[in-house]
Amino acid sequence: MERIPLWIDCDTGIDDALALLLATATPEAQLLGVSTVAGNCSLEDATANTLGVLALADANDIPVHAGASQPLAEPLHLAPSIHGTDGLGGLRPMLPALRRRATSLSAVEAVRRACHEHARHLVLVATGPLTNLALAVASDRALVEMVSRVVVMGGAVRVPGNVGPNAEFNIATDPEAARIVLTAGWPLTLVPLDVTMRVRMGAKDTATLRKQGPAAAFCADALAFYQEAYRPELGMRAAPMHDPLAVAVALDPRLVATEDLPLSVETRGEFTRGSVVVDRRPRTRQESVAIGPLTRICVAVDAHAARQRLLRSWGGLSAG
Ligand code: RIB
Ligand code: CA
Repeated sequence: MERIPLWIDCDTGIDDALALLLATATPEAQLLGVSTVAGNCSLEDATANTLGVLALADANDIPVHAGASQPLAEPLHLAPSIHGTDGLGGLRPMLPALRRRATSLSAVEAVRRACHEHARHLVLVATGPLTNLALAVASDRALVEMVSRVVVMGGAVRVPGNVGPNAEFNIATDPEAARIVLTAGWPLTLVPLDVTMRVRMGAKDTATLRKQGPAAAFCADALAFYQEAYRPELGMRAAPMHDPLAVAVALDPRLVATEDLPLSVETRGEFTRGSVVVDRRPRTRQESVAIGPLTRICVAVDAHAARQRLLRSWGGLSAG
């Protein structure tokens, strides 16, 4: 089987953790490394959570590189109401004791080296604020031609935002970085709330996972915390799988339907800062105001197939 060289940059919160476990449980995914960024929680917590989750997956060989502790310009706003104060809903004690630390190589340098060493093959997946990737591509524009694909969980295109009328957390946490990454010109697929809110895990899913071994039980407890966090908004226990879907799309693009449209990020609007802007005007009118490069935007998802892929992967974790 030809494996897919993968790199995940994340702000390990609950759905990032589930995304990491999906990657480690997928044979065709060759997870080369993980870089961490502040977002859902502090950089220290995101890094500790990442190390703990990889230990749970018996993946201590995958290097972890700590990155940015602050956005480029926006003050850091954490998300404790969704991910808990430690970023993992208080579930870190369920994880194996940490036997290693993040490497001394920075996230930016590690991403750069991975792109060079796996030129034309590396798939970069970002499931947190884009600070690390922005610093990497700003320091080495050659990355734009080197990566095979960049997959970003972020944005809200035709649906409401989750931190503003049209603003989604990953983009709005660091709008300057998001604009650099989303308009860099590399082959980028955006996985926005438009599709991630359609892939949800409910109480039956946690009950099933709880019977499938310790790692799957961790997924069940993580899902349960996330379901409660979303209950006020959704009125039911149904957790949207933002980051796991981004990894699933990186591994199997057939899960989604996409459109290629000009895209940029608003960095100045009083009510729109951190929003993704997509130009749906006819091509002839787009030249008048060229907002940004064509970006592959996920507009529909096979939610059933995505759910089955996630549940199958998490359920198989403890099978070893
Ligand atoms: O808006 C959802 C995104 O913000 C997810 O990546 C979640 O982990 C948070 O980072
Ligand atoms: Ca995230």
